[in-house]
Amino acid sequence: MSATAVTSRHNPALGFHRQHLLGCEDLRPWEIEALLERADAFADGAQSPDLLRGQTLINLFFEDSTRTRTAFEVAARRLGADVVNMQVASSSVNKGESLLDTAATLNALDPAFLVVRHPESGAPALLASKVQAAVVNGGDGTHEHPTQALLDALTLRRHFGQLEGLTVAICGDIAHSRVARSNLFLLTQMGVKVRLIGPPGLVPAAFEALGAEIHFRRDSGLKGVDAVMMLRLQRERMAGSQQITAGEFFRFYGLDAAALALAAKQAVILHPGPMNRGVEIASSLADDPTRSLIATQVRLGVAVRQACFAALQAARIARSDGLELES
Ligand code: NCD
Repeated sequence: MSATAVTSRHNPALGFHRQHLLGCEDLRPWEIEALLERADAFADGAQSPDLLRGQTLINLFFEDSTRTRTAFEVAARRLGADVVNMQVASSSVNKGESLLDTAATLNALDPAFLVVRHPESGAPALLASKVQAAVVNGGDGTHEHPTQALLDALTLRRHFGQLEGLTVAICGDIAHSRVARSNLFLLTQMGVKVRLIGPPGLVPAAFEALGAEIHFRRDSGLKGVDAVMMLRLQRERMAGSQQITAGEFFRFYGLDAAALALAAKQAVILHPGPMNRGVEIASSLADDPTRSLIATQVRLGVAVRQACFAALQAARIARSDGLELES
């Protein structure tokens, strides 16, 4: 077990006490550990059906989502909250209402939590500065997707017993992936070695300075790794750039049985979804229950969101208690 795990377990002061969850870049190991510990308890069946009774979550999604939005909704309902899904396509946003006008409207509704997904990097942080609610970033542009990285870490930790010492390869369209960025920040904080694999145009060299090992060749990148996280080609974020074809991508960077054989003997496969079978991953591997943890990721996604809501709620109560003591 890592030193940070012991520290956080024996000193609850070193937990997660933030007002918002906007990214992994500045999360400290004990904050990550505290969230993962809470998530472990929920994944093991802990019930708190009244924890958020009378509180409202607004899911504000400006981009498509299936599993992320649903997981936030299921998590909040399990804790007793009311959930409102804002249909952005039919809301005033399409009539030219600015993000900040939307914030003012949301404030008037007084939600405890606001989960925001937006195509612009930084939009959740901007909203967080304007609303009373605790804001959770549900994915912003190419920037961050912190709850995805937390659920990936939880999946790996529950499978291997600990994160420290693992080597994880993240393969595919790194440049446009908020999942890759959040994972890089989180995993390196927790003592995981991260390799980024992809064609030169899709793996920014700057990520080396953030602690990653960069591989432009799949086969060298996969050698001996404990886990492979495959990513989708995010064509919606590639406007104007020369695009690799699906066939070329699978041939040089896709995960099939021969490529997986280069990894460690018991290596596991992750994918945040949505998955393009036959483009980044062979269908037979995605469905192989002995190697694929993809269904486990979705299941643990609910426990992670429960943990985030519970931690944000605890931090809010602690803050308001502190204010009362001072007054
Ligand atoms: C990812 C996202 O939206 O960033 N999906 C997800 O949240 N599960 C990855 C993707 O869109 O490829």
